[in-house]
Amino acid sequence: MLAINDITKTYGSGRTQVTALDQVSFRLGEGKLLAMIGPSGSGKTTLVSIIAGLLTPTSGEVIIDGHPLHLRSSADAARYRRETVGIVFQEHHLVPYLTARDNLLLVPHLSGRITREDRTRADDLLESFGLADRVSHRPALLSGGERQRVAIARALMNTPTIMLVDEPTASLDTERGFQVVEMLKDQVHERGMTCVMVTHDMRMAEHADERLMLRDGRVVAG
Ligand SMILES: Nc1ncnc2c1ncn2[C@@H]1O[C@H](COP(=O)(O)OP(=O)(O)OP(=O)(O)O)[C@@H](O)[C@H]1O
Ligand SMILES: [Mg+2]
Repeated sequence: MLAINDITKTYGSGRTQVTALDQVSFRLGEGKLLAMIGPSGSGKTTLVSIIAGLLTPTSGEVIIDGHPLHLRSSADAARYRRETVGIVFQEHHLVPYLTARDNLLLVPHLSGRITREDRTRADDLLESFGLADRVSHRPALLSGGERQRVAIARALMNTPTIMLVDEPTASLDTERGFQVVEMLKDQVHERGMTCVMVTHDMRMAEHADERLMLRDGRVVAG
């Protein structure tokens, strides 16, 4: 269970101060995909970055399974991101000179060594995202939707309990967008993860289990 309690985030100070989030609260259970919707500048990426432990809120708390998230050092934050969260950014950050499979294997590689189980897991994940015949392709040879699916599969390599996806379908046409959301939703349900997916697109949001609308840093009812 993920709980966001009264989070406020201000950037800067004095006359240039911006309140990106203003007392935002919500809860999300396991096995649920939440679509976070809102216009540009409404605070979506800021909120995702706070849940990811990349930004500290000005006030308020992120609570995971009843425990407030306190990242006391950058080592703490790095461990939290390695062990608990999976993150997919809008720019998917795939390594251009690595194949799809090796992009997934980068995760175990960075935290030690690659085992046979890691290889099996990478191939299984790529298969479940419909990429079985693309494992040896480099990102440049993949379509936009395929790249997004590789990025999502990579974020699942460390079996995160919280999955954060910023605009997974922004660069895709509607049909391909739906496909990515459906595949993501299947994984969320199957693995009992808690997933926050940012989108501009109300039609994508309708495919999620729950919706949260932000406007000017506040939660809009409905
Ligand atoms: N590092 C920063 N310094 C100062 N202001 C920032 C910073 N990052 C974001 N902001 C401001 O905070 C507000 C929320 O930004 P945020 O990136 O969270 O919006 P968003 O909903 O993700 O927008 P988009 O849909 O365009 O990605 C905006 O007014 C933005 O200008
Ligand atoms: Mg954003």
